[in-house]
Amino acid sequence: MIDPAKRKLSYLRLSITEFCNFSCNYCLPDGFVGKRSRSELSVAEIGNLVSGFAQLGIKKVRLTGGEPTVRADLPQIIELCKAAHGINKVALTTNGYKLAKHLEDWRAAGLDQINLSIDTFNEEEFAAITGMNLLPQIMADLETALNMGAFSIKLNATLNDSTWRTVLCDALEIVKTKPVTFRFIELMQTTHNTDLFFAEHARSEALKDQLVQAGWQSTTRGETDGPAIEYTHADFAGRIGIIAPYAPGFCETCNRLRVSSEGKLHLCLFDSANFDLRPLLQPGKASELHARIKSLIQVKPAEHHLKAGDSGLMHNLSLIGG
Ligand code: 5AD
Ligand code: SF4
Repeated sequence: MIDPAKRKLSYLRLSITEFCNFSCNYCLPDGFVGKRSRSELSVAEIGNLVSGFAQLGIKKVRLTGGEPTVRADLPQIIELCKAAHGINKVALTTNGYKLAKHLEDWRAAGLDQINLSIDTFNEEEFAAITGMNLLPQIMADLETALNMGAFSIKLNATLNDSTWRTVLCDALEIVKTKPVTFRFIELMQTTHNTDLFFAEHARSEALKDQLVQAGWQSTTRGETDGPAIEYTHADFAGRIGIIAPYAPGFCETCNRLRVSSEGKLHLCLFDSANFDLRPLLQPGKASELHARIKSLIQVKPAEHHLKAGDSGLMHNLSLIGG
């Protein structure tokens, strides 16, 4: 699948629920409002969706949300993504709620990668950001996950102007001995986080300069890798990553397509348009689904307009999982 900007699309990010049990200040400052949808895609629909995309050249699937672990059928979903011909990596984004409880099931289902949100290593700050006082539990469960040796593990934090230097110091302690990648993500403006965005948004240049001066070296991205630039250092077991959606050229290497928990294709995270694939996820529609996806990628936007303060209709990232 090649789009008009000549980008090869190999990475599908599939939201399996919009619901979330955390209330991160940059995402759902008031928590999840309203009732959880009763019409999330079924396991059978997800199976058809993933096979359709796999046939067209998608090689990696990330399951995201909202908080994907609220779905009891998550292990089945992981298993069927793994079983789709051509998919060689299945990843999961989670806030870490009851992480340890799930790990054995995920390993059995074949999960390759876990991305865990840890915005700070300070217990009070963690509670203030997420609305959940769970940092000690999540750190203990992270240790369990690492000891299993079954998953590649990445930790995600937003890059906040007033705190990133402290977070970096703490992250380096961890990355020193543990084979995890700690990634800073530039805070993206949404319609729900405007105040925080203007108070805390920082560009990642100063962070990058600090890493380079300390001897960190950037690595090249693989075909199905996400947008992070990852840095390695001979004295550290893990890596530090930077995701800089406001940097020039960010969209040039976009290899991603996104589907919402109700089956709507989003060609760009910050584009207000979406395209309903659900009718084509029913039995006997495989060739129509194939044709529809092929034609829709022809209208994938070349870039987002975040810099102009335009987040499309993106109220928060729990709709479509960042
Ligand atoms: N800006 C930057 N990152 C965000 N995330 C969610 N919302 C935003 C935002 N507005 C990221 C967080 C979280 C992951 C699931 O998505 O880093 O860890
Ligand atoms: Fe939930 Fe993730 Fe949004 Fe936090 S960032 S509120 S964990 S969906």
